[in-house]
Amino acid sequence: MADEVGTELVVRTGADGSFSLWSAAFQEGFHSGRGALREARETFLAPSRLERFPPGSLVRVVEVCAGTGGNVALLLEACAARGLTLEWWGLELDRRPLALALASEAFRRPWQPSTLTALSELLARGHWHGEGATARLLWGDARQTMRDLPRALPGPVDLVWHDAFSPRRCPQLWTLEHLQATTAPLAPEGRWISYSAAAAVRDSLRQLGLHLVALEVAAPGEHPTGRTLWSGGTVASPSPLASDSPAGDRPAAQSLWRELSLMEREHLRSAAGEPYRDPDGTDDAATILARRSQAQRAALASGARGCSGAWRRRWGVERR
Ligand SMILES: C[S@@+](CC[C@H](N)C(=O)[O-])C[C@H]1O[C@@H](n2cnc3c(N)ncnc32)[C@H](O)[C@@H]1O
Repeated sequence: MADEVGTELVVRTGADGSFSLWSAAFQEGFHSGRGALREARETFLAPSRLERFPPGSLVRVVEVCAGTGGNVALLLEACAARGLTLEWWGLELDRRPLALALASEAFRRPWQPSTLTALSELLARGHWHGEGATARLLWGDARQTMRDLPRALPGPVDLVWHDAFSPRRCPQLWTLEHLQATTAPLAPEGRWISYSAAAAVRDSLRQLGLHLVALEVAAPGEHPTGRTLWSGGTVASPSPLASDSPAGDRPAAQSLWRELSLMEREHLRSAAGEPYRDPDGTDDAATILARRSQAQRAALASGARGCSGAWRRRWGVERR
């Protein structure tokens, strides 16, 4: 049962018992039904493959939409357990998700006291320095803070965790321009990771010259929008991502990701692959959606893209 905590944010509990929120403004949950903690582990932490970094290494991470702080909490503890030094930058518009999370016993339960101190400092001061970790929260519209961030970065970024609301609800953070800004600081072996498998997002990343793989579905049928999934998300990198195991010792059944299937590659070439555009980084959702619809019509008329309805019928995919 959800508790009403304000006009816009409602506390929810995921299937794993972890704390989550639902946004009335965006009409979407912060996490999939499997739960915030499971999603953080399966969608973001696992494909980050922290074991790639020898103990003592510095790992730089940018999180787009830090929300409740659950992802950075997991990352802080995972890096500490591996003897890695973490430098984290979080981008977030709204202070309430982190404040609500810190006020919740259900949220606090899994985390060590030092992790909760870090989150409290981030909320109060926007930064935290601890043994082996530095974290900074940049409050504001991520389109702006992401453009300013490279000046503050001391070097390339190893991981970008992109955890915005879905492209249809929050297209501002999935435009070609914003994806370019978020992927530009990646190190050659860096990884941009998201739960989204949207064709428009994937084709934007492809147009930006990145290599893509599809995350396997961790929990079939579970997504903030309630849709059936064929992929659990996307990993993009400036370098090819041929295998999810540098050591090559994981059985195929445990693979975290795979090459994009023919169905997915055709999806990218359909009208659904038309990128969201926001040239100045200031447009609202309605303007960005209308601009994309116009571009889709033009692409269909010129034959540059195929009809996504035909693609759905060919592959037996239900309409969203
Ligand atoms: C899916 S939730 C984030 C989930 C988060 N990683 C967590 O684990 O709680 C999306 C977040 O995006 C934030 N947001 C929405 N529009 C934004 C914008 N333009 N810039 C930055 N953050 C934004 C919302 O406040 C919300 O916290």
